[in-house]
Amino acid sequence: ELELHPPAYPWTHNGAFSSFDHASLRRGYQVYKEVCAACHSMKYMAYRELVNTIFTEDEAKKEAEQITVIDGPDDEGKMFERPGKLSDYFPSPYANDEAAKAANNGAYPPDLTYIVSARHGGEDYIFSLLTSYCDPPAGIEMREGLYFNPYFNGGAIAMAQSIFNEVVTYDDGTNPSASQLAKDVSAFLKFASEPEHDERKRMAMKAILGFSVLFVTVYYYKRHKWASLK
Ligand code: HEM
Repeated sequence: ELELHPPAYPWTHNGAFSSFDHASLRRGYQVYKEVCAACHSMKYMAYRELVNTIFTEDEAKKEAEQITVIDGPDDEGKMFERPGKLSDYFPSPYANDEAAKAANNGAYPPDLTYIVSARHGGEDYIFSLLTSYCDPPAGIEMREGLYFNPYFNGGAIAMAQSIFNEVVTYDDGTNPSASQLAKDVSAFLKFASEPEHDERKRMAMKAILGFSVLFVTVYYYKRHKWASLK
């Protein structure tokens, strides 16, 4: 079985006290929305998660309003359409799993909300997968609808290459090279799987600082109390 292990990339969020690169997350969201969302759902991700990291609250509200949500029943028992709100989850490209498979040659495009936690190698794997499509080794024939990718288990994946130079135009002017797009969307998917990541590290920092102050005080107090007895 062919399967390469991805190298460890130097993400800004590596390290106990390091945060995400928020500008990169914002671009990564754009890549997900404009490229990946054509086939992949992220149905456990709500617009409210985008507030403070990717968008301001107003921007996130406007983003949510772009989608149409079927809600209800109303007082008359009818379902109705309304614009999205912060509490809504990302829309899915297909009505159900069967429709998703039918549109992809029988292969199911997995939901991407927690894909970084679900795959060995996490965001390193996603980046490697997206940037490593190539011709199969000599003598290996690919079946119709399968594409060679050395990072995918078995080497034959039902997802075609979707990341190319300039398939997205970034609002912030960053050069949208294929590797930049892949990096940004991989960071965004890592964020999706752990939206509390930055806050968790911030709390850890506060806890360590708080306990250090406490330790020094208690140590001094102990020495002080026992001084007369020694
Ligand atoms: C599988 C990511 C775009 C169709 C996957 C997997 C990931 C992924 C992580 C799982 C691989 C594994 O099982 O280890 C992405 C990202 C995209 C993107 C980040 C955007 C940059 C697309 C698009 C399509 C698509 C546009 C459809 C045209 C599929 C299908 C599979 C898949 C059918 C299942 C492959 C198989 O099991 O052989 N994708 N994808 N993906 N994706 Fe995508």
